[in-house]
Formats: sequence, C-alpha cells, structure tokens
Amino acid sequence: MCGMFGTMLNLHAPSHAAWLPAALAAMDDVLLDHAHCEKKAASTAMSLLFRYPDHLELQRPLSELAREELAHFELVLRHLDRRGVRFKRQRPSAYAGRLMEAVRPQEPERLLDMLLCMSLIEARSCERMKLLSEALEDDELRSLYKGLLASEARHHTTYVDLARLYFDADVVRVRLEALAAHEASALEREWPATHVRMHT
Ligand SMILES: [Fe+2]
Ligand SMILES: [Fe+2]
Repeated sequence: MCGMFGTMLNLHAPSHAAWLPAALAAMDDVLLDHAHCEKKAASTAMSLLFRYPDHLELQRPLSELAREELAHFELVLRHLDRRGVRFKRQRPSAYAGRLMEAVRPQEPERLLDMLLCMSLIEARSCERMKLLSEALEDDELRSLYKGLLASEARHHTTYVDLARLYFDADVVRVRLEALAAHEASALEREWPATHVRMHT
C-alpha cells in the first residue's frame, strides 16, 4: 500500500536510495528520532484543535489522531528501553520546518496547507516504515514498523479527507501535488545527512 506513489500516499518521489542502508546501520538513532516524531505529530494535531475550535468536523478525528500518536510515542519509548537507549532531547531536523515554509499565512489557505503538509509527513513516515519493515533483521523492530505503517497511511488519508471537507476536491488535488513536490525537495536537501533520522 505504501509503495504506490501518486496513488495512496501522494508522494512526489521515493526516498533517496541511500537512506535505508544508513538507517539500518543506525537504528538506535532512527528510533530516538522516531520517538520525537510521534510526540510532535500528537502536538501538531493538538495545536490544530486549539487553532480551529470552530471547525467542528476537525475535532474528533484530530483528537483521536493525537491520542494514537501518543500511544505510538509510548510504544517507541518501550523499544528504546528494550535496547537500553535513553530518550533525550534532540535538535529537530530541518525537514518539517522547510516543509512548513510553504504554508500560506492567511486563512483559509493556511488551514488547507497545514492539513496537506501534515498528510505528507504521515505519508513519508509510512513510506519509510515500510522500507524498514521489509529490511530489518530484528524481529521486534520489524513488527513494530509493520504495525505502525498502516496507522500512518490511515493518518495520511485522514488529513486529506479533512481538507476535502473544507475545500473543493480540485483545489485540494492541485495544492497537494504542489506541496508533494515541495516535500520531496525539502527531503532531498537533507542528503547526505550527518545524522540519520526518520525524516532525512
Ligand atoms: Fe504515529
Ligand atoms: Fe501518524
């Protein structure tokens, strides 16, 4: 499901071929970054709830999504524990910041762009979790990523569906294509990366 570019995940380009081997060689770093990504995903969903309290249709789906991301966060923390890796502060990668530079400041375009950028972050996570789930030799990590990638694919769809509630299907489609191209370039500039992360 996650390998189908332009269909289910709407990604403009697959991950750089060098990412997977680098990630496999540094799984503790990837897991630590992954934990931060799950927590951040919950936080961004929460921030949308606070910014758009009058958008009734956003409330329950984003609340559920935030809870799911926190459950993912706790799950990844358990895997860090299992591997003896201490959770610690980490400087965020430039990826999300660069992606969000494309968010237009005025409403309602801001809402559309936020929802679609979040949908693309979910899609990229899903793509990478799929790569990991197919390549990892560690059984526990492989099943962690196998289990999570379906949720992240669903989150991608949730964000796009929410955008369609408030904007015309054509407007959503055109903007999603443009932002997907931007997302691929935000990712590309991270490579070669000094630290391998979920989003480099
Ligand atoms: Fe998640
Ligand atoms: Fe997610």
